[in-house]
Parts: sequence; C-alpha cells; structure tokens
Amino acid sequence: MSGAVLLTGGAGYIGSHTCLVLLEAGHDVVVVDDLSNASEESLRRVAELTGRPVAFHQVDLRDTEALDAVVAEHPIESVVHFAGLKAVGESVEQPLRYYDVNVGGTVSLLDVLQRRGIRRLVFSSSATVYGEPETVPIDEAAPVGATNPYGRTKLVIEQILADVAVADPAWHMVALRYFNPVGAHPSGRIGEDPRGIPNNLMPFVMQVAVGRRDELVVFGDDYPTPDGTCVRDYIHVMDLAEGHRAALDRLDDLPGYRPVNLGTGSGSTVLEVVAAASRAVGRRLPRRVGDRRAGDVVASFADPSRAQQVLGWQAGRGLDEMCADAWRWQSNNPQGYATP
Ligand code: NAD
Ligand code: UD1
Repeated sequence: MSGAVLLTGGAGYIGSHTCLVLLEAGHDVVVVDDLSNASEESLRRVAELTGRPVAFHQVDLRDTEALDAVVAEHPIESVVHFAGLKAVGESVEQPLRYYDVNVGGTVSLLDVLQRRGIRRLVFSSSATVYGEPETVPIDEAAPVGATNPYGRTKLVIEQILADVAVADPAWHMVALRYFNPVGAHPSGRIGEDPRGIPNNLMPFVMQVAVGRRDELVVFGDDYPTPDGTCVRDYIHVMDLAEGHRAALDRLDDLPGYRPVNLGTGSGSTVLEVVAAASRAVGRRLPRRVGDRRAGDVVASFADPSRAQQVLGWQAGRGLDEMCADAWRWQSNNPQGYATP
C-alpha cells in the first residue's frame, strides 16, 4: 500500500479501534488529535496490540497551518475524519463551540486537503441526522432533520461535503452515519473512556457494573415498544471499525459524495441491553425506572443494505459479544486509561 491514512480524532473511542483495524490491514496511519477528549495512552496500546507504530501529532484541527504542516510531512492518501465534539446536552448549552469545533474544524481540514491535492475522505456522521424517524428501519433516503445543535453540525457538515464534491468532481467522499457504537476490542486493552458522567447507555451500565455508579436510571418505560423502553441499533465498535476499512478500500469506486448507514439492522430495547450486560457481568445490575429523557426518539434502527451493496460490509457481532467485550475493557480498566 502506498499512501498513509490520516485519522483526525484518532485517539478517541471509535478512532482508536479504527486505527487498530487499519494497521492490522497493512495501512500506514497518521493520527491528529488535540486530546480534548482522549488520552494518548489509547494509541500506545494500539501500537502495543498491533506491533506497529502510530505517527501522532497533537494538533487542533482549527489550527489550519499546524494541520497543513502535518499533512505536508506524510504521504497522506486518504482521510477518516472523526474529530469533533459529540455531547448532545453540552451542544444545547454551548452551540457556538459545537459549530466552531465541528463545522470550523471540518472547513479547516477540507482547506488543507484541497491545497495538498487529497481528494479521499470518510466522515463520521450519525444516525442523529434522521431526528425522529417516520418509519423504521431507516434507509439513507429517509428525511433528515436534527433536533439539537450537535446533530445540526453533522447535517451542516454533510451538506458542505456534498457541495465540495459538486464543485470538484475529483472528490471521493462517504459520510458514515453510525447508529449506536458500543463494546471494545476483545483484548480489553482499548475501549470507551468517557470523561465525567456518561451520557450514553452502555458506558453508564458498565460504570454501574464496576461500582463507579450506584444504579442505572432507565429513562422511561412507557414508550410504545415491546417492553416500554426505547429501541436502538447497537453496533459493535469493531464492526464499525471494519466498516471504515471497507469504505477506504472501496473509495476509488465511489466518486462524489454519499451517505451510508452503519448499523446492524436490528433494534434492542434498553431492558434487553441491561439483561445482556447482566449476563456478561454475571449478576443483576441495579436499576430503577425514571422519567423520559427530553429529546429521545422511540425507536431507531438502520436499514444497512446500502452498506452491504456499496461497501461489501455488514455487521456480524451480537449484543452479548458487545457486552462481554465492553465488560472486559471496563473490569480490566475500572478508571479507563487512567487506571494505574
Ligand atoms: P471521541 O470523543 O472519543 O473522539 C473524538 C476525538 O476527537 C477525541 O479524541 C478528541 O480529543 C478529538 N477532537 C475533538 N476536537 C478536536 C479538534 N478540534 N481537533 C483535533 N481533535 C479533536 O468520540 P467518538 O465516540 O470516538 O466519536 C468519533 C466521531 O464519531 C465523532 O465525530 C462523533 O460525533 C461521531 N459519532 C459518535 C457516536 C458515538 O456514539 N460514539 C455516534 C455517532 C457519531
Ligand atoms: C445519543 C444521542 C445521539 C447520538 C447517539 C450516539 C442524545 C439525546 N442523543 O442517542 O445524538 O447520535 O447517542 O450514540 O443524547 N438510556 C437510559 N439511561 C441512561 C442512558 C441512556 O435509559 O442512563 C436510554 C436512552 O433513553 C435511550 C437508550 O438508553 O433510550 C440509548 O441511549 P444513548 O446511549 O444515549 O443513545 P441515543 O439515545 O441513541
């Protein structure tokens, strides 16, 4: 393989797993991350697991000149753009920061790539762009319309990518719309390490299991679903990482811009996740039912057929494997990467 892959935000949760999968597939990888929500320890462990070096530069994407210097230094051929802020509640409180980092960071990155003649990009989008879906499963033709500033940054970025691809037909771009990434590498050496109180279900459940939190509060059990709790499409982070490898491998055949869902195609309720996590941990996890969370959609799961058609990829790992791997990571690293 000739050129290297630049991973923005590659020290983070999804980035570090993708980094590992790309290294194992023989790609050379360069990571740019400002470490605002990650630890360099994740990359040290990726290097240890793969036996391959990871070139790392601590750079804020919005620093266009610093980013340009990194790109000039390496034979970058394609980019996977993970870097950004992702907490929904925080985005409601600090919308300008979200537009600045997510949208401004992307514009800065595209500026550098244009200058340097790089025209191959895979972008981390989210199923959040579908807002409250009219029907499930959700395919890529479904109407979009985010319900919070975080989601709107993803929509704006998707539109920017589409516009840039129209202006210059040399571009090959895929926006991967992730459903709910969970789990960890089966070694238990890398995983999800959120700062502060986790917003998302799986890391919260795992912190309850390891004793960092007293109990899970289930956000509502009066939804019109089989057990009254919300339905989501949980996808193993290793399947997701392999989806990025597939996208990079197929990018030459994908001119222009297109969005592609990355999900399993099947939904699980909150209580099904808690039951699977309890099986993985080996005991019943403490929980109580609380109020609904504002802004939650009732049910969201992917129609993943486009990913299969255009990327030749489909998810293979089930909920029990997701929970077993998440638990191996959490129990071996109760304080995440800060575990002594
Ligand atoms: P993460 O926070 O672990 O990773 C993002 C990385 O970007 C972090 O390492 C952070 O330090 C870095 N970063 C942030 N701002 C930066 C900047 N200005 N310059 C350079 N680096 C910067 O999150 P993740 O879960 O790995 O998510 C990766 C991407 O996937 C994000 O764009 C996120 O919006 C998207 N996504 C995540 C989920 C999810 O549930 N985890 C779902 C859908 C989409
Ligand atoms: C959240 C984000 C969404 C993002 C997605 C990515 C919100 C409102 N939405 O969505 O933008 O794209 O993560 O992974 O934050 N739950 C509990 N108790 C908890 C935590 C969660 O019952 O302590 C429930 C939620 O109500 C939901 C399910 O678990 O029904 C999954 O929640 P979460 O992991 O936050 O994911 P999303 O709601 O899909």
